[in-house]
Parts: sequence; structure tokens; C-alpha cells
Amino acid sequence: MSSTPALFTPFSLKDLTLRNRIAVPPMCQYTAREGFINDWHDAHYTSLARGGAGLVIVEATGVAPEGRITPGCLGLWSDDHIAGHENIARSIKAAGAVPGIQIGHAGRKASANLPWEGDDHIPDSDPRSWQTIAPSAIPFGAGLPKVPKEMSLQDIERVKLDFVSAAERALKAGYEWLELHFAHGYLEQSFFSVHSNLRTDQYGGDLAGRSRFLLETLEAVRKVWPERLPLTARFGVIEFDGRDEETLAESIELAKNFKAGGLDMLSVSVGFSTPTAKIPWGPAFLAPIAQKVRQESGLPVASAWGIDNPQVANQTIEDSQLDLVMIGKAHLANPHYPYELAKSLSLEKPDWILPQSYAHWLASYRTS
Ligand SMILES: Cc1cc2nc3c(=O)[nH]c(=O)nc-3n(C[C@H](O)[C@H](O)[C@H](O)COP(=O)(O)O)c2cc1C
Repeated sequence: MSSTPALFTPFSLKDLTLRNRIAVPPMCQYTAREGFINDWHDAHYTSLARGGAGLVIVEATGVAPEGRITPGCLGLWSDDHIAGHENIARSIKAAGAVPGIQIGHAGRKASANLPWEGDDHIPDSDPRSWQTIAPSAIPFGAGLPKVPKEMSLQDIERVKLDFVSAAERALKAGYEWLELHFAHGYLEQSFFSVHSNLRTDQYGGDLAGRSRFLLETLEAVRKVWPERLPLTARFGVIEFDGRDEETLAESIELAKNFKAGGLDMLSVSVGFSTPTAKIPWGPAFLAPIAQKVRQESGLPVASAWGIDNPQVANQTIEDSQLDLVMIGKAHLANPHYPYELAKSLSLEKPDWILPQSYAHWLASYRTS
């Protein structure tokens, strides 16, 4: 048996090989202005990559200005945004991680305050607010009461093109891993969810109708994103709203169609489509669900949410529940969290750390 813990074995997808199974999931920093990268993003993402993860995915980046969650979110809706992203992608790569980015549209959850300003929409009277869009004119509810505009067929075509243009810019910037944000109650998830999609045209109704926008977006992006590089999506496969068996069965059908449409991996998450969901938070609570999706769809899967304990994280890989472990908040607290995982799992040869001087240093640190 290999002495390397499963978490520290390499992972290959398409033409890329990650140095280990640890990924930093996308996490909004809320510090951008007009969608532009700034010095904080540089410092933050470089330190995360230097910290040892195999993959670093840059935060949810708006494909359109009205697709940002908050005014502090990043964007890739114009060529002017590319240069800042080039620096980030280059730095992540120099530190030995694969540079990834999540692109998305926040739909009816857009035009929100920064989290520390209040967990709700920016008031309509505030000039920073904007009109949100969604499959149907239904507000999310709770702290997000703004009524979105129901999207016309032209709106749907436009947003698909926005995804394509953002993907092209991400590629130009040097990202090698693209994640489509189809999760968390944002625009694409809201087309899939019966909580938010009451359309009676071809983009609503049955599973095929509610899946159409997601599959067409994937198809359009796949045409411009190179075959040699991973194209992935984050998707909420379950809501914890009392109709979970049905939602999960539909999600698995969709995952199979994602695979047929050229998706390379699914990051399994929660739908967050209704404020009344009762989510059973707990360590690695999504891992068994992700495993089911993995087994039934045939797609490799990643997942997050409380998988930062070293033994638990390692076990999810060892037991083939997950192919990649996403570790979020622990990385915010300590960008070198993979060093701690390596130490805790008694990794003998930390040859995944760049440059070699660091690997050498860590070996003595481990035994000190
Ligand atoms: C500050 C912060 C920002 C986040 N931003 C995003 C985001 O941009 N896109 C996304 O899909 N998830 C986002 N998330 C969710 C994380 O990717 C991750 O799923 C979550 O933190 C759970 O993993 P953890 O328990 O390891 O922290 C965010 C989480 C945090 C804490």
C-alpha cells in the first residue's frame, strides 16, 4: 500500500494534473470596484496557491454587470477586465497550483449589500442598486425581497452569450479550469428550481424545460473552451426542502446530461433556492450525496462544506466519495492549511510544494 495519503495523490483531468486532491473553492472577496481585480485579490490568491492546494478557483465572477452578487464582486464582462486576471492566473500557476475561475450570474439574488452591510438587497432608492432578472418574477424572499424581471427569450440568449464571452476572456487571461456557477440559487440554479421557475414556455415546466437554459449554456461555452482543459460546473443537487428524493433524482438526470454535453466534473453543492430550507449542517454532510451523484452520473465530483478535518478529508478520497476536496473557510484562516493537513496525515515526502526549498523546510518542520 502506498504511504501517500489519498488526499495527497495527484489528480488528472483532461490534460491537467493537480499536485493533490485539495482545492480552494470560489470565495467572494467583495473588494472589487466595477468588477476589477485589485491588489488584495493579488495578495489573496497568490498566498492561497503558495499554501499548497492543487487547484485555486477564483471567486464568483460576473458575466454581466447585473450578474454580480454585490457591487464588490469581480467581473469579466469587458476586455478591460482581462489584464488583472492575467496577473492572478500567472501567480497561481507560478506557485504550483492550477488556476481556475468560477463565472456566473446572480439572477434574483443580485444587487445585494456587502455581507457586513446587511444580508439583503440594496434598497431601490440607492443609486448602487440595479434591476435583477430571473426565470419568473418571483423574489427569493426573506432578506432578498426585490422582485426580479421575468427574462424574455432575448434576455436568455443574451446571458448565454455573456457566459461565452466571459469564458473566452477567462481563457485569454490564462485560467486553465473553468467552473460554471449553476448553484446557490443564482440565475442558472433558479431556472432548474421549482421554487423560482414558473415559466410556461420551453425554459420551464418539466425537467427538460427547467434544464434547458443550463444545458444550452454549457453547450455554448463548451464550443469556446478548449477540449484539453477541464470545464466544470457547481450545481446544487438538493435543497433540503422536504422534496429531496425528487430533486436529487432530477439532479442526477441533469448530471448525466451535463456529462453527455461535455462537462468534465461536477462540484456538488446545495441549491439554496428557498430561505425555508432545513439544511443538516455537519462535517462532510454532502459527501454521501456527492458519492451517489458520482456513481450514478459517471462524472468525477468535488464537494465542500465542512470537509476540513484531515482524517475526514482524506477518507472522502480514500472511500471514493469525492475526487477532489474543496476546503474554504479553513483556507481563509490559514492559506497554508494544506501544510497542516500534510503534517496531520504524516505525509512523508511533501514534494508537492514549490519551490523545493520549501519542501525541504517542511520536512524538518514536520518532525520538530
Ligand atoms: C466568504 C465566502 C465567500 C464565498 N463565495 C462563494 C463564491 O463566490 N462561489 C461559490 O460557489 N461559493 C462561495 N462560497 C462557498 C464556498 O465556496 C464553500 O462552499 C463554503 O465556504 C463551504 O466550504 P467550507 O466549509 O470548507 O468553508 C463562499 C463562502 C465564503 C465563506
